[in-house]
Amino acid sequence: MAQEFDDAFKGLEQSVMEDMRKTYSETTIDHFLNPKNLGEIPSPDGFARITGPCGDTMAIYLKVKDDKIMNACFWTDGCGCSIASGSILTRLAKGKSVSGAQKITQQDVLDALDGLPEDDAHCALLATITLREAIKDYLASKKEPWKRVYRGR
Ligand code: FES
Repeated sequence: MAQEFDDAFKGLEQSVMEDMRKTYSETTIDHFLNPKNLGEIPSPDGFARITGPCGDTMAIYLKVKDDKIMNACFWTDGCGCSIASGSILTRLAKGKSVSGAQKITQQDVLDALDGLPEDDAHCALLATITLREAIKDYLASKKEPWKRVYRGR
């Protein structure tokens, strides 16, 4: 009985993967199933949480030193494409200068994922907008560091 269940489960898993491969790139599937940089950074230097028109939320946390993105993490309650987008976007941002990270576009995320279906392209936009807002937050905190106290971080 257990063997039958295992075989049925493997068959189902294979068919789900085959369906995913018809729609999504291997890179997207990999970042969705094994997201990089998922989680929070305590006391981030930059932070933003944005809810997109689809109702899903993305949060991005940044650690910055000498105007370089030393660490970038994300969290989302969104779809698989938002997970893949947050994962690859934080990878793209890490190691960049703040101004370089600000220039990362939705298209850069789409290119890095080897594309997303048109209906899912907005997930990459949500990630990109959230990164830009997190950078804005960093720049505002840099100008007025005392405000960080009021934000509780
Ligand atoms: Fe909302 Fe993907 S459907 S972020």
